[in-house]
Amino acid sequence: MKNIGILTSGGDSPGMNAAIRAVVRTSVYHGLHIHGIRRGYQGMIEGDIFKMKTTDVSNIIQRGGTILKTARSKEFMTDAGMKKAYEQLQRHNIEGLVLIGGDGTFRGAAHFFEQYTIPAVGIPGTIDKDLVGTDFTIGFDTAVNTAVEAIDKIRDTAEAHDRLFVVEVMGRDAGYIALYSGIACGAEDILIPEQHNNITDVLDRIDFDERRKKTVHILVVSEHDDLGGAKEVTDSITARFPHLDVRACILGHIQRGGSPSQADRVLASRLGFAAVNALVAGTTQVMAGVINDKVVFTPFTEIVKDGSYINPDMLEMIRVLSS
Ligand code: F6P
Repeated sequence: MKNIGILTSGGDSPGMNAAIRAVVRTSVYHGLHIHGIRRGYQGMIEGDIFKMKTTDVSNIIQRGGTILKTARSKEFMTDAGMKKAYEQLQRHNIEGLVLIGGDGTFRGAAHFFEQYTIPAVGIPGTIDKDLVGTDFTIGFDTAVNTAVEAIDKIRDTAEAHDRLFVVEVMGRDAGYIALYSGIACGAEDILIPEQHNNITDVLDRIDFDERRKKTVHILVVSEHDDLGGAKEVTDSITARFPHLDVRACILGHIQRGGSPSQADRVLASRLGFAAVNALVAGTTQVMAGVINDKVVFTPFTEIVKDGSYINPDMLEMIRVLSS
């Protein structure tokens, strides 16, 4: 193997640049030519491919976003799109790939590799932390820290006005960002899809707090909770407690940006290094992850969304600590 390609795909996440840096530098160390593919699979289809050198990744470890840009390509989901992508790889003599992204990226990869044989290793880059095969995904820690900083600020103003706030965080259909940021901010309640919440229970908990004169109430809700997002939950609270001063706050894409935390930079560096070493050693069609502080490799075909399991101890802990 002489030429490998690297792309970032799906929603960007802080730390993707640190992973790109690690992949480029490890490739150069092994004497490989490394090709950047811009805008994920869409750039692969369009041949938006350029040779990278070690200085292209100078001064990016601390930057959010992705210097390779990213996209969610519908065309790549079609047979014609995949054929074009494969032809572009052949045109550039690319014999191996490093793919950085989330579940959509690996679903796309598994589908592509059913038809075309090219060695590839994945790196989990998503703020959602919703993949099997790794304890943490690149970007999750930073996104949670961003949410924590914002919710702490919201608590200041909530306290000043004796207000109830419903704060909506991202995570698509996984509740990890809500769970971790809610615990870290001492939220009075955390609503995540994995819990299948019932609105009556949520309102009864607010009622209980009301009766014991708890004046500030922060609810952290995951964007796709069964009860809806911040707007829907706020409407339900206002309908039952019209006297309460309730505000909804949607944190949104702020959670995807910013300089990556040290945890994300280190994770990205470890996985970028491991991914190229794996390709060189002939380990392919797998995603690199870290489980119990050890790098492990899981086949693309097993990288499904891990949205259903949240440690029940953590859920019980929320109830106890917020009471
Ligand atoms: O997968 C990352 C993520 O930020 C999710 O948490 C969120 O639901 C989604 O992407 C938002 O996507 P977009 O940037 O396309 O609106």
